Amino acid sequence: MKACVLAYKGITKSKDYYLKLVKEMERYFKPVLLAPIDNVIIEVKDDVHVTYKGKDLKNFDVILPRIGPSFIPFGTLILSHLEEDVYFPNTIEAYRVASNKFYTLMELSKHNIPVPRTLLTISQEMSKSLLKSVGEPVIIKRLGTSGGKGVVYAKDIQSANTFLDAFPHKRGQEILVEEYIKNPGEDVRLFVIGDEVVACMKRISKKDDVRSNIHAGGKGVPYSPTDEMVKLAVKAAKVIGADICGVDIIDGPGGPYVIECNMNPGFAISRITGVNIFRRMAEFTFKNARIFHHVEEISIFERVNERFSTFFKELEDRL
Ligand SMILES: Nc1ncnc2c1ncn2[C@@H]1O[C@H](COP(=O)(O)OP(=O)(O)O)[C@@H](O)[C@H]1O
Ligand SMILES: [Mg+2]
Repeated sequence: MKACVLAYKGITKSKDYYLKLVKEMERYFKPVLLAPIDNVIIEVKDDVHVTYKGKDLKNFDVILPRIGPSFIPFGTLILSHLEEDVYFPNTIEAYRVASNKFYTLMELSKHNIPVPRTLLTISQEMSKSLLKSVGEPVIIKRLGTSGGKGVVYAKDIQSANTFLDAFPHKRGQEILVEEYIKNPGEDVRLFVIGDEVVACMKRISKKDDVRSNIHAGGKGVPYSPTDEMVKLAVKAAKVIGADICGVDIIDGPGGPYVIECNMNPGFAISRITGVNIFRRMAEFTFKNARIFHHVEEISIFERVNERFSTFFKELEDRL
């Protein structure tokens, strides 16, 4: 089977991780193409074609997307064209839901997964009026960001008000006002593959921050999640339609809360926990691609059986 890892040009920063992923994929697939999404073209005329440097992506058996929130509109167009012929883990809807933190919280809360109380508005004035009911400190978030970049921690209503006034706000742009879950700048990242949490780390923010993202200077340490966290993470992934994703949980005084699902979870967890995430992803993808393409599993027993019956049939014919 042929596989294509759909990444983005920026992977040069974490190239070693991607090379590891390709190496593990090559244990199961031949060839494995590492294709930056920046070089993919979608063309319509009499038909639709999705190509990467002249190669039609429909000719691949598997696409493994590794794309962050800003690539989702383009990425999901690609996937929706390939959906019937090519296997990829995670549903298109999962990418849509996870690329919007609020949409994610809506889906999770509908399925009784604990999430922080969060209010969504498109008005600065309206969001300011909500601060009192949410309490202090408060978290304000922008959609479509990652790595902690769109997250603001306001210690009190005064700081939140001044921030909201100064916040460059485009017409129609959503503002999330979220309950702060008390924790010492820590959260837990659970890497879910299928029905399992295959790796887990605690992320601890740097001294003068509350955002624990590795990209915001947070530090990751291996962590053994509680059974409750594991159940929540696997359920959260299922609810949004994801097979491979990173679920972020904050363990607050009232118990664990899921704050987001990441469809492009960072690979640093592999270095931090020592778990070969790449192999686990490749194994899972291979197993499910075989099911998708109806490749029959032939056991050694069946093969031996087949040989014997052919042998006896030939013998019978001769006699
Ligand atoms: N409601 C909250 N209460 C406490 N800390 C939070 C809350 N929301 C986010 N954080 C902190 O900010 C970090 C980034 O928030 P998150 O919503 O995951 O945004 P991003 O997509 O940028 O990672 C989290 O990992 C956590 O450390
Ligand atoms: Mg996060």
